[in-house]
Formats: sequence, C-alpha cells, structure tokens
Amino acid sequence: MIVAIDGPSGTGKSSTSRAVASRLGLSYLDTGAQYRAITWWMLANGVDVDDAAAVADQAGKPAIVSGTDPAAPAITVDGVDASGPIRTQEVTAAVSAVSAVPEVRTRMVEIQRACAAAAPAGIVVEGRDIGTTVLPDATVKIYLTASAEVRAARRSGELKGAQSVADTQAALVRRDAADSGRKTSPLAKADDAVEVDTSELTLDQVVEQVVALVGE
Ligand code: C5P
Repeated sequence: MIVAIDGPSGTGKSSTSRAVASRLGLSYLDTGAQYRAITWWMLANGVDVDDAAAVADQAGKPAIVSGTDPAAPAITVDGVDASGPIRTQEVTAAVSAVSAVPEVRTRMVEIQRACAAAAPAGIVVEGRDIGTTVLPDATVKIYLTASAEVRAARRSGELKGAQSVADTQAALVRRDAADSGRKTSPLAKADDAVEVDTSELTLDQVVEQVVALVGE
C-alpha cells in the first residue's frame, strides 16, 4: 500500500499524511524534510545555493536518514538530528533553488524509493512529485490544494507570528512558482490523482476523505 500525497505548501500535507499513516498503520515519509535537510547542509558548509554546479558537485556528500514513524518523524544529516534547523526561514528561502538541481533530485528520489520499499505494511509519502515521478505506481494518489489566503494564514500560525501573513503569503507564492516552474519534476498533479481542496475543511474532515479514498 503506497499513498502519495502531493500539493503546494500550507495545504495540510504533513498533518494529513501523518494522521492517515497512523490511522492505517502505515509508515510515513516527509520528502520536503529531506530537501530541507540537504539545503541546511549546503548552507552550513558554505555552498552557494544559487550556484547549481556547486550544489550538484556536493549533492552526494551528506548522509540523510529519515525516520518513518508517523508519531515521531525524525531526520538526521550525518548522524545529527536536523528536525529543528531545517524549519528556519533561511532554509525555507533557499530550499527551492537546491531542489531544482537535478543531481539533488536524483539522490533524493533514490533515498525515497528505498524508504518506500523497506516499509513493512506500506507508506504514506508526502511531497511535490511523488505521484508523478517518485512512485508513479502508488496505490492511491491525492493532490491537496487550498486558497493562497488560507495557506498563508496556516503557515503564519505555524510560525507563531514571526512573519506577517502578507509576508508569508508572498514567500509561499514565490516558492510555489519556483517549485512549479523548475525543469526537473516540477510540482504537478498526476493525471490519476484525486484533488482535495482543503480550504474549507478541518484536518479531521480531510483525513476522513483521504482514508475513504484509500478504503480502510
Ligand atoms: O514540504 P516542504 O514545504 O517542507 O518542502 C520544502 C521544499 O522542498 C519545497 O518548497 C520544494 O522546493 C522541495 N520539495 C521538492 N520535492 C518534494 C518535496 C519537497 O522539490 N517531493
């Protein structure tokens, strides 16, 4: 059982994916955390993230390991817990550029497919290109959307007021444009994905819809 959950930021992918995985007894993989982790490593090691050749050159170096327990998702880079540092605004601002580098994507996709293959009962994998590229044969594909206003309000709530809603919305729009516009595996809905607009739904309602689509 492989459930692919794609969509832009702030649509509720992580909360939904974790809850669905817990409900169904499946593993969980946050692929965005992996792109954030390699971005964090690049920044920490002084790599110019806007220099695609420099990023490509270093892409094979960090060892990125994701925990797949939906109750306690974890990620380490070279054995160091990176769960906190990957959520900084500095990483968020740089992650689209690093993710657009084909060598980075090749490496991440390899890790992601290995994780899915190792999951004992199956896995819920969230990201931007899971249904189209990483696991095109996924059992169920979901594409979550929400209005730009709702997404910005949710993200701003997560940031606990550290950034205004307007600034958060501008940053989200920029990141979506970069993620949708890149040449390799852009953010896109797979033809056979079911689209769920979460703007007017509670988390529980979204989880119910996804679980129903998976078929308990
Ligand atoms: O999901 P999250 O917002 O943490 O993802 C961070 C970034 O990682 C995205 O903006 C995108 O640039 C990249 N990403 C990606 N492909 C994925 C998951 C995330 O390019 N499958």
